[in-house]
Amino acid sequence: MTDPAPQPLSRRGFLQAAAVGLAAVATGLAAFMAARFITPALPHAQLSDFTLDLPAAYPEGQSFVPTARIFIERRGNRFRCLSAECTHLGCIVAWNAPRREFDCPCHGSVFTADGAVLKGPAARPLPVLRLTRDAGGRLLVQRRTSVAPDQAWITI
Ligand code: FES
Repeated sequence: MTDPAPQPLSRRGFLQAAAVGLAAVATGLAAFMAARFITPALPHAQLSDFTLDLPAAYPEGQSFVPTARIFIERRGNRFRCLSAECTHLGCIVAWNAPRREFDCPCHGSVFTADGAVLKGPAARPLPVLRLTRDAGGRLLVQRRTSVAPDQAWITI
């Protein structure tokens, strides 16, 4: 006995198959977006210490160092370092110079220039990281060592 010839897909069958396919794609995309939303970026504790440039390389004000995920702030001959990783879920904050604050693009947290939380959902301040100099005079940030804000500044 031979199999019956395949029936052509009806319009209704095609639309049902297309709807199932689109639902599967939408579900997968929603799951990906949800995972991306709740998964923190690489936390600073997983990054090692960074040797930066000589102090003269940093202009007055805030300088973002993307490889180290930090901001170096210079005021004359004084320097300090703040983590650029939002304490909510780890997005990189942006310096808003006119408002003198750090803004997180992900969920709207806002931090002062000292790293204190102005607006959540972040509940903890941006870590102030220990900044020293190596034997050659270059800045060295110790990413695993937070310091109190009143100990943040080093004078060159
Ligand atoms: S990562 Fe959520 S507010 Fe910054």
